[in-house]
Amino acid sequence: MSSEISHKIKQRKSANDVFITPRPLAKLAIDMVDHQEGDIWLDPFRNSGSYYDQFPTDNKNWCEILEGRDFFENNNFAWDTDVICSNPPYSILDKVIARSIELQPRVINYLIGINNLTARRIEIFNKSGYYLTKLHMCKVYKWYGMSIIVQFEKREGLDTNLISFDRMVWR
Ligand SMILES: C[S@@+](CC[C@H](N)C(=O)[O-])C[C@H]1O[C@@H](n2cnc3c(N)ncnc32)[C@H](O)[C@@H]1O
Repeated sequence: MSSEISHKIKQRKSANDVFITPRPLAKLAIDMVDHQEGDIWLDPFRNSGSYYDQFPTDNKNWCEILEGRDFFENNNFAWDTDVICSNPPYSILDKVIARSIELQPRVINYLIGINNLTARRIEIFNKSGYYLTKLHMCKVYKWYGMSIIVQFEKREGLDTNLISFDRMVWR
């Protein structure tokens, strides 16, 4: 990315959260999920359907604010979800994480910027019984920096993250 574009992103006044995931990358994320018979999938941020169209089941729901289905509203589309898989709006990631956890799916799989994965956010997942089980690093054309697909899961006997970290400020 040129320094001019990088500068524009940093200086912008409102968040531009509409980034369309290349379909093969959405498929890669979907294939990371160990899905089970009968699982209900949710794409909370569907847009053109890079994820939703490729889910391995017809047992699926979607939200998309541009089409009048707000993920944060109490609607019928989001409850009873086993797998959440999408590329969320990064400017409201904390809210997205809180809402995703609230729905209590077994798997949460999100494509985010590499800098978006912080120890604080991992701890938020851990406090609700979700642990980081998979992490795939990738680069998307024209997107700022590296991206990662992170997968958090909640299941019996799972109590550690794929990676370790500490909260010291080392000197
Ligand atoms: C980063 S884009 C990803 C789109 C699509 N999932 C993909 O990967 O191609 C995020 C999408 O979330 C939508 N969005 C933002 N806030 C939302 C909300 N509260 N509820 C539902 N969708 C929302 C935006 O309109 C946008 O289409």
